[in-house]
Amino acid sequence: MTISETPTVEAARAAPRKEGMEGMIAARTAISKIDGLNGHLIYRGLDINDLAERSTFEETTALLWYGNLPTTTQLKNFNDKFVRNRLIPNQVLSFLLALPRRTSAMGALRTAVSASAAFDPNEGDNSLEANVNKSIRLTSSMPTIVAAWHRIRQGLWPINPRDDLSHAANFLYMLNGKEPTEKVAHALDVALILHADHGLNASTFAARVTASTLSNLHSSIVSAIGTLKGPLHGGANEQVMRTLLQVGDVDNVEPWLLNAFEEKRKVMGFGHRVYKADDPRATWLRKLAHEMAAETGDTRWIDMSEKMREVVQANKQLPVNVDFYSASLYYMMDIPIDLFTPLFAISRVSGWTAHVYEQYSNNRLIRPESEYIGLENVPYVPIAERD
Ligand code: ACO
Repeated sequence: MTISETPTVEAARAAPRKEGMEGMIAARTAISKIDGLNGHLIYRGLDINDLAERSTFEETTALLWYGNLPTTTQLKNFNDKFVRNRLIPNQVLSFLLALPRRTSAMGALRTAVSASAAFDPNEGDNSLEANVNKSIRLTSSMPTIVAAWHRIRQGLWPINPRDDLSHAANFLYMLNGKEPTEKVAHALDVALILHADHGLNASTFAARVTASTLSNLHSSIVSAIGTLKGPLHGGANEQVMRTLLQVGDVDNVEPWLLNAFEEKRKVMGFGHRVYKADDPRATWLRKLAHEMAAETGDTRWIDMSEKMREVVQANKQLPVNVDFYSASLYYMMDIPIDLFTPLFAISRVSGWTAHVYEQYSNNRLIRPESEYIGLENVPYVPIAERD
């Protein structure tokens, strides 16, 4: 018998349940709502399209945490706190320096966030005020961690954050020491807004399950980072780009996809548990990717993406998800592929932390049940008699 082989009773095999908690309501939230049938997303009641058009990541984070848009003074104070907390403690930097250079960027981020807990002055305090302070430090410093790791693994010294740049522009600056153009910084800012929250997605659920045990905020975020990393969730954006690179040319798209369908392989960046219509975030990212292609003068990746979308929709009617166009967008912005998912985390931490506050505010342990489908009344056979 192999480890993974679970003995099942015939009756359970004959009537399998839909796995993956599809359609189940596992929490109540006032943070974001997805209307999957109509392709509509709101944060705290505001349409994602309005936020993408007019907000900033910093303002959107304040909206997610406090429940409404900040006034000018509130936003200024919020931005000031954000900027003041960008540096990471030297001890956390030492953790990064100690990691093998082959460590994945998501692995380095998860490790550094876990280590950050030990150096956080509010560690051990689970009050709302302490958690807001911890969230500011985490949200402000995660871009610094990711950029520092990218430098360290190349044998370069990390670049200190600047206090005169936006969250998005500062991240790009810390990657290579070059201030991004306004267009590039704006594209990343919009992408961060679009990724900030999304109902009870897998990583947010993981964060809420951890918080529901009254474990601390850093532990919840570490759970969420580990969950986001997988290719069925946030890890898909990296896989989309690897697919595009593998396909290589717009003429190869159709045969490549037909072969993937034949072999029943999943095509990354397509399909969603909740959306049956196009994901509104993908609509924005598509527009940004087209603009970036025009800016760089290289339309190869967006041409391939459009052909992929056409062939997948003709054959499978699957909607594109948020990870599809973000891949080519980030690639054209010269962001290394394995930083795509950390970039998702840099944004989603604002939603995760909002959900952790919400979970604490009306907590009950999240503890579903499993349906046992194994054997019963199995006699214990002494080891000498098992051969
Ligand atoms: N490529 C090919 N077929 C697909 C895809 C896909 N990307 N997505 C779903 N399908 C097919 C399945 O094979 C299945 O077909 P079947 O009924 O003939 O077996 C059917 O559509 C239903 O798919 P499920 O996997 O059961 O749908 P589920 O709701 O469990 O999965 C998921 C959703 C994980 C997103 C899935 O669509 C997928 O694997 N997509 C690719 C990975 C991806 O892009 N993930 C990012 C999602 S967005 C995010 O998390 C940020």
